Amino acid sequence: MNTKKIIDMKGKEPITMITAYDYPTARIASEAGIDIILVGDSLGNVILGYDSTIPVTMEDMLMHIKAVRRGAPDAFIVGDMPFLSYEISPEKAVENAGLMLKAGANAIKLEGGEPYAETIRRIINAGIPVMGHLGFTPQSVNLLGGHKVQGKTPESREKLLKDAKILEEVGCFSIVLELVVEQVAKEITENIKIPTIGIGAGRYCDGQVLVFHDVVGLTTMDLKFVKRYANTYEIMLNAVKSYKTEVKNKVFPSKDNIFE
Ligand code: KIV
Repeated sequence: MNTKKIIDMKGKEPITMITAYDYPTARIASEAGIDIILVGDSLGNVILGYDSTIPVTMEDMLMHIKAVRRGAPDAFIVGDMPFLSYEISPEKAVENAGLMLKAGANAIKLEGGEPYAETIRRIINAGIPVMGHLGFTPQSVNLLGGHKVQGKTPESREKLLKDAKILEEVGCFSIVLELVVEQVAKEITENIKIPTIGIGAGRYCDGQVLVFHDVVGLTTMDLKFVKRYANTYEIMLNAVKSYKTEVKNKVFPSKDNIFE
């Protein structure tokens, strides 16, 4: 996979993207044939137990990108730029984006529209492909007043359409649309030549992205836009309970597990 192939998929075949944060999840995503692996800053919530993505650092991201690359040597990996890694100056943004590529990413993703146009241009000029991210942008949760669906008002719709066009013009190879009214996501998708990849943005995006742990049911919160394909939390919990019971009852280790 490469950015040209991803752009070429628009209108032909839905693009699949899933997050992965470590060696085993990357192996599974890659073996399943997922088109793009996103090392999302959602690792702050999902892996590190924070209540937002704000505390996630560049060091956190680089460590997880390296692990994901080890688990998926041939995958197309997008590294998510964490809060304050690109907002301070375009120079700092290019430097941090470059560190993500050195760690093993093929491209980076950053949140925001028009205000980051110049920064994105500079990152792309340095040879680093950029995926945009519009709609609900979790790093701005404090400005947006919570996890709110975007595109509900005429102003919000206009802004999303304008920002998407700007991201296309500066050279992004795709755009994540998060928590966007379905009809607005459809309009954006029809208005630009690069693929949109939706999460809570309805059926008409060019692709879909979900968080790995939501897909396999390792997270237990019910979210309308998520589909849980397995109940891994319960499977793991039962396995650990069985282990504990067997040790307490002197069933494990058995004759099969010893060295003679
Ligand atoms: O960090 C993340 O997982 C993301 C996805 C929700 C798109 O940005």
